[in-house]
Amino acid sequence: MAQNWFFLRTALKDFRSTGAIASSSKALVKKLVAPLPTDRPLRIVELGPGNGCVTEAILGRVHADSEVTAFEINPTFVEELRGIQDRRLTVRPVGAEQLLQFYAEGSVDYVISSLPLSMIPKEIKSEILRQSQLVLAERGQFIQYQYALQDRSLLKRYFGKVTTSFTMANLPPAFIYCCFG
Ligand SMILES: C[S@@+](CC[C@H](N)C(=O)[O-])C[C@H]1O[C@@H](n2cnc3c(N)ncnc32)[C@H](O)[C@@H]1O
Repeated sequence: MAQNWFFLRTALKDFRSTGAIASSSKALVKKLVAPLPTDRPLRIVELGPGNGCVTEAILGRVHADSEVTAFEINPTFVEELRGIQDRRLTVRPVGAEQLLQFYAEGSVDYVISSLPLSMIPKEIKSEILRQSQLVLAERGQFIQYQYALQDRSLLKRYFGKVTTSFTMANLPPAFIYCCFG
């Protein structure tokens, strides 16, 4: 409950970049992390971690030798994320559009994004998707949720294959995209 108030207060201060008034439900978070294999170390990038609800689920699921890096631009959320004690986690207080400054092409296994795509200016959004596609390894995946299907066609421009699933168990209900190649 306290987590939800914290999220709401932080979101209301900067709604345009947060794009939600509540953090993702347990059901949505479970769907976002379900594709992550557990039997080998992974390099994972998280975009827009906010209060860390997805971050903690990623850390709770993946192999002990994995590497998780979270890109977050809201300083209040950055501070909250830095409170997560896990040696596998690095928090970067920079925008997702700077991915290529940190990763070589083809070097990341999964990019998991909670970015409010529909509220991000088109040029920045396109740059984030372009860089995400480039940093992903051959069999990597880009995973994203959205409350409506506004950006499905844009995702298809950057990724060879996009599958879409849905959960009612979130406020609001959400679509989950898994993008390959
Ligand atoms: C809808 S919240 C998601 C929070 C949490 N992951 C969840 O699912 O409940 C979106 C987050 O994306 C962050 N964000 C927005 N634009 C960003 C950007 N260009 N780079 C990194 N983070 C960004 C916001 O600050 C916010 O924390």
